[in-house]
Amino acid sequence: MAKGKKSDLNGIPHLKRHGDTVQLIVDGKPFLILGGELGNSSASSLDYMKPIWPKLVQMNLNTVLAPVYWELIEPKEGKFDFTLVDGLVAGARKHNLRLVLLWFGSWKNSMSCYVPQWVKTNQKRFPRARLKNGQAIEILSAFSKANLDADIKAFAALMRHIRKADSKKHTVIMVQVENEIGMLGDARDYSDAANKAFEQQTKNDESFMAEHYARFVNQIAAAGKAEYPLPMFVNAALNRPNQKPGQYPSAGPLPHLFDIWKTAAPQIDFLAPDIYFLDFADWCGKYHRPGNPLFIPETGRDMRSEVNVFYALGQYDAIGFSPFAIESTPEPENSPISKSYEILSQMTPLILENQGKGTMAGVLLDKDKQTCEIKLGQYKLKISHDYAWEWSGAPKDASVWPSVGGIIISTGPDEYIVAGTGLIVTFTPNASSDSLAGIISVQEEVCEDGHWRGGRRLNGDENHQGRHLRLPFDRFGIQRIKLYRYC
Ligand code: DGJ
Repeated sequence: MAKGKKSDLNGIPHLKRHGDTVQLIVDGKPFLILGGELGNSSASSLDYMKPIWPKLVQMNLNTVLAPVYWELIEPKEGKFDFTLVDGLVAGARKHNLRLVLLWFGSWKNSMSCYVPQWVKTNQKRFPRARLKNGQAIEILSAFSKANLDADIKAFAALMRHIRKADSKKHTVIMVQVENEIGMLGDARDYSDAANKAFEQQTKNDESFMAEHYARFVNQIAAAGKAEYPLPMFVNAALNRPNQKPGQYPSAGPLPHLFDIWKTAAPQIDFLAPDIYFLDFADWCGKYHRPGNPLFIPETGRDMRSEVNVFYALGQYDAIGFSPFAIESTPEPENSPISKSYEILSQMTPLILENQGKGTMAGVLLDKDKQTCEIKLGQYKLKISHDYAWEWSGAPKDASVWPSVGGIIISTGPDEYIVAGTGLIVTFTPNASSDSLAGIISVQEEVCEDGHWRGGRRLNGDENHQGRHLRLPFDRFGIQRIKLYRYC
């Protein structure tokens, strides 16, 4: 149990209910993570990290998701070395970034490749999971107290260290416990201890396994929180369609196992999806649930993540977003994600103010879904893909249209802010009346230090002579529209 002073915990980052959502509070204020996750091995060398930090700043990130490797912090049992962790904290502080630490402990993408050598080589003391045919696999068994205790000791030591090193500055704002937990090869562990536990209950193989993974992780999180209670979450490798448990990493924090995980792991604050599939919007919806804020710790850098982020923040009040292997982004300062994050940094105070209030929506369109309609504030909005507009100049014959999207916020009875790329928006009054909506003005906006300063007044060709608001497909922007009614 933590021996530090209670005052160390003043102002610790935490989650807080806000309207019908949950916000991450850092230094007493709501915080939106515009993040990126490092490739797996980058944080194992502080020298390797040196040129990466400025790149992350160029990309307009405010937070880095970085692994902490069990094998490197506890190379000998009970002897801890936090040089890498301290180096990460120092690097982040120097570049004005926050950190979400990822505990690569017992499990990383199902496997146990990050456990220290003294664990790997002592299978008698630290038993492995087994397949149905009895073969041991390189996955630690969740049914061993020795396995659990060893992970608990290491994770508790890590959290104790973070408290000592960071409880005043709050550079570390959340912790992911393990990484993409899941059973591979079979739907469950068939070691003797697992078989015995299985016989005493009635769940199916995957649900049984999920309950035991969740219980294991819950105890790790509890021990970590007893030292320093940062928000803690687990991430899921999503299940591919038409595959059976064991073919995909089964029993992880997946949508169909949500209730089991939530019940068996109350110390885990939320379950988070790593979205590498194209149906991005659907997966967001599956993880945004009452009491489970949406956070996307990993997503494919090359799957229009610069557009998807608008949708996740606008539609689902996500607390953050983080493309994977962010440091490998080519041309960081000109990359799409840096442009998108630049706009979102400007929008952040407004987004946070509107979370949980029903005044904000996210839009995501492509060739298959070229338009959508939403009701927001006092108007109905019809939103179309910019390629669908005959004068957009886009190659609309292309077999694939890039996905486009944005955030729309109702900022007053007759006013909206729209940010993103590739959208055409028209407005109709909500109320059943004969009146139509006309445009008073469309103003390009820039926000500096929390203050809006208008850019161009967009009229004429830029709003189709007063017919619509347009965010062209080849750039990101913010526009404020004021409407009136006529009949
Ligand atoms: C998901 C894992 O969580 C990451 O650590 C990394 O292995 C990526 N997959 C690679 O695509």
